[in-house]
Amino acid sequence: MEKVTVFAPASIGNVSVGFDVLGAALSPIDGELLGDCVTAEAYAGDGCELVCKGRFVDKLPADPKKNIVYGCYEAFAVALAARGGEARPLRLTLEKHLPIGSGLGSSAASIVAAFAAINAFHGNPFDDDSILRLMGELEGSISGAVHYDNVAPCYLGGLQLMLERPGQISAGLPVFDEWYWVSAYPGITVSTAEARAILPKHYSRSDIVAHGRHIATFVHASYAGDRVLAAEALVDVVAEPYRKQLIPRFDTMKQAMVAEGALAVGISGSGPSIFAVAPTLPQAQRMEAWLKQHFLQNERGFAHICRIDTRGTRVVE
Ligand code: HSE
Repeated sequence: MEKVTVFAPASIGNVSVGFDVLGAALSPIDGELLGDCVTAEAYAGDGCELVCKGRFVDKLPADPKKNIVYGCYEAFAVALAARGGEARPLRLTLEKHLPIGSGLGSSAASIVAAFAAINAFHGNPFDDDSILRLMGELEGSISGAVHYDNVAPCYLGGLQLMLERPGQISAGLPVFDEWYWVSAYPGITVSTAEARAILPKHYSRSDIVAHGRHIATFVHASYAGDRVLAAEALVDVVAEPYRKQLIPRFDTMKQAMVAEGALAVGISGSGPSIFAVAPTLPQAQRMEAWLKQHFLQNERGFAHICRIDTRGTRVVE
């Protein structure tokens, strides 16, 4: 193989009810590819040359060696060397379409696209589990803790529940095909590391019991096909009460979404993006319109009506 381009979709970490253990990949219904692309191609020099472009390229580090995609090449080369292999010199091109610090799994999309492209270029020496572990470790080096709730759905697609057992990082949950996931990025930045730092170090027993009950109910309802119960269980007692202060107009937005018939509303990952689950397309369209008019803070913000992306990361060229 001389050249491969890989697309990795945006994702919602936590999905309210599963802090660090539940995540969903997103696909706008208008066909837009909401995510990052990485191209890997043969390079005549040594090591890795990284070229960056795309709508959000201006927020990337000026020095390509400080870019997380460069870190993917280095981590891949070390992991391959540990197996007796040698990484080939590569030119990587990152097309950065997701805003950094958005809560849309932006760093995960770059990391996943990069590892998947580099792995494909080398003939896939790492299986899904091994490459996901490398992805999670690198994502953890940015946010301060290894968590797979963005990289796993981004790579595998669907709604993924983290198991983190030997040989299996995650398992896909059944999804309700009729739900629309309205996603909005207000245009401001929240760092995941900071959004993690403001969370309590300890939780009360009643919060722990409520959290366990909500996620167990959600998993049960997903398998039982009970969408009313599943939506009811999308409650966040771990992060939303503390993180919502980082998101302008969060409570007003939530009330407006519920007034339009949202089945659930929550913070996407560590924010500031949010998601609302709509039962019908007309309701999703009204929610998207409200968000565009009242929730976006500047011209960098955007909103999309999405479905769960069941394909995950894929080779596009
Ligand atoms: N589970 C992570 C967090 C997701 O909430 O910190 C970050 O996108």
